[in-house]
Amino acid sequence: MLSALDKLPLIPAEKIDHGWRPGAPIAKGATAEYGQYLSMSCTGCHQPNLKGGESPIPGGVFVRDITPSGNLGKWSEQDFIAVLRTGKTPDGRTMKNEDMPWQMTNKYSDEELTALYRYLKTL
Ligand code: HEC
Repeated sequence: MLSALDKLPLIPAEKIDHGWRPGAPIAKGATAEYGQYLSMSCTGCHQPNLKGGESPIPGGVFVRDITPSGNLGKWSEQDFIAVLRTGKTPDGRTMKNEDMPWQMTNKYSDEELTALYRYLKTL
């Protein structure tokens, strides 16, 4: 009887994988996991692999690699946060907000920018 019940097309609760829920909220925190979630707003320009490439905006400047194979490999967490708050890079460049929207990222909290840094460092 038990084995016959087992063949019924019902999904017993204990067979459902409770570990995975589509659309589960990502826990906020200064973690790479949360950084990966936040990085979705960067992939439109920096590409899904975040290594940059030609601008999606006609006539736009080349989109830089923001993984450790780019400048991120040599920038500290403080450097990275300063770049996204001021648009100025440690090597003395000033980015235009129309190219890299740092007037958007300067509203991110320390926690969010740290999470992004930690995620980008894993790439
Ligand atoms: C509208 C397109 C766009 C979006 C969205 C965008 N970026 Fe950028 N980003 C750029 C461009 C273009 C550059 C290069 C600007 C330059 O060289 O003057 C850049 C440069 C950078 C740099 C400096 C890299 C270097 O080596 O100098 C960092 C860091 C960066 N972006 C991080 C981010 C992060 C993190 C996000 C998401 C929160 C993001 N960007 C979203 C277009 C974008």
